[in-house]
Amino acid sequence: MKQAKCILERDYIIGETDPHLFGSFIEQIGRAVYTGIYEPGHSTADEQGFRTDVLELVRQLKVPLIRYPGGNFISGYNWTDGIGPVTNRPKRLDLAWKSIETNQIGIDEFADWCQKAGTRVMAAVNLGTGTPAEAGNMVEYCNHPSGTTWSDLRRQNGHEQPHRIKVWCLGNEMDGPWQIGHLSAEDYGKKALEAAKIMRRIDPEIELVACGSSYSEMPTFPEWDRIVLEYLYDQVEYLSLHQYYGYDDTDDTTDFLASFLDMEVFIQTIIATADYVKAKKRSKKKLHLSFDEWNVWAHRNETFSAWETAAPRLEQLYNLQDALVLGGLICTLLKHADRIKIACLAQLVNVIAPIYTKPFGPVIKQTIFYPFQQFSVYGRGEVLQPLMTCPSFSSLKYGEVPVLQSAAVLDKATNEIRIFILNCDQPDDVEIMFDFRSFGPVTPLEHIVLNGPDLLAVNSFSEPEKVKPHHQPISGNGSNQLPVIAPKLSWNVLRFSIIKK
Ligand code: AHR
Repeated sequence: MKQAKCILERDYIIGETDPHLFGSFIEQIGRAVYTGIYEPGHSTADEQGFRTDVLELVRQLKVPLIRYPGGNFISGYNWTDGIGPVTNRPKRLDLAWKSIETNQIGIDEFADWCQKAGTRVMAAVNLGTGTPAEAGNMVEYCNHPSGTTWSDLRRQNGHEQPHRIKVWCLGNEMDGPWQIGHLSAEDYGKKALEAAKIMRRIDPEIELVACGSSYSEMPTFPEWDRIVLEYLYDQVEYLSLHQYYGYDDTDDTTDFLASFLDMEVFIQTIIATADYVKAKKRSKKKLHLSFDEWNVWAHRNETFSAWETAAPRLEQLYNLQDALVLGGLICTLLKHADRIKIACLAQLVNVIAPIYTKPFGPVIKQTIFYPFQQFSVYGRGEVLQPLMTCPSFSSLKYGEVPVLQSAAVLDKATNEIRIFILNCDQPDDVEIMFDFRSFGPVTPLEHIVLNGPDLLAVNSFSEPEKVKPHHQPISGNGSNQLPVIAPKLSWNVLRFSIIKK
């Protein structure tokens, strides 16, 4: 067994987790909406056709906001296609995902669904084929109370009260040549600036997210981010980051497990870029980050041959290994809670998602459901900087990799310390000696472990609970130093209660 040491100090605080760190994403693509959240005729459908079995799982994830309606979809979408009487709505070709979009669900229905799910909409506007004026119209329709054409149209469409959408994305991945209406950084900066001006004049309370690089391998990264921020620094609250971690059969498991290191470098680079622009502009404002697409995703280069409606797109059955990798990414996000104020697991239902449905059938929790749920339920509070000393292993891609990736949170409301640990060591369990120092003695509450003999095991409709967390005994009551074993290749959540003196 390998040995490690972890010191936790009351004063080593990184920052408070913003509730928006636990967000997610639903794109109008494949079966995310149709047969995902919405399936009239399903045995659990409510009066609006929303699947209540899916709603129940979404509520369990406690996601505070959900990005909608795209994604690549947004850049060719006219949001007015999705409002008004459903029977009058047009069927359109969705050029992003080679689909036929029936527009049965639009912003009004999605806002209703969010209310039922206990979450909020994070809207995206089309800056591909769309114009700044159209983006403004959407803000007016959604947020202006009444007395104008757009706001009264919303009222006429059955929504007397405004949706009050607070966070708005200025387009999606506009640096990507695959994006409909792809722009250069300069052109995007100018267009987004005008959209921001209009949107903010309509509703000064909104918060805006500028498109950052769509992933770190883009040749324009991080120059895109610098240029865009030179236009938009004063106009936006956030810069977006997107990154997916995948593998194919030739990839090394060791590298994949260490994906958290790639995310770390990506975040650090974006922070440095944002702070460079801040310095250049002599600005006092600290820009926050919106990591509004992150996940594990194995098959990014899928192609689609036929124009179809609600056909599967980007569906992935996640295995145990994916869930472990996701755990490592969670730790990295938490460790940057001072700058990352929004993050959206991409996506939520069916499309690279923790929730997976069968049309007219059951819904299951994918393996990644569990670490994400634990992050959302236990990750709120003050993020502490754990001082972890542990052995390392060699990875082809990243060089020396610490066998443990960890993050810790102090929840003052419950007086609990929660610690998240990925042990990505393949041969060995690791015994970690925790030292709670200034916290004094603690009572261990639980040690939840996700691991198993087969890294490729998945949950399926025939075996929906093949991979799920279990409890491991934890001892050492009343001490401020106690040992915990993180099994090899495992994701761990530890909860300790601080004994008040
Ligand atoms: O989440 C799937 C797709 O990945 C999104 O539509 C796009 O923004 C990203 O490239």
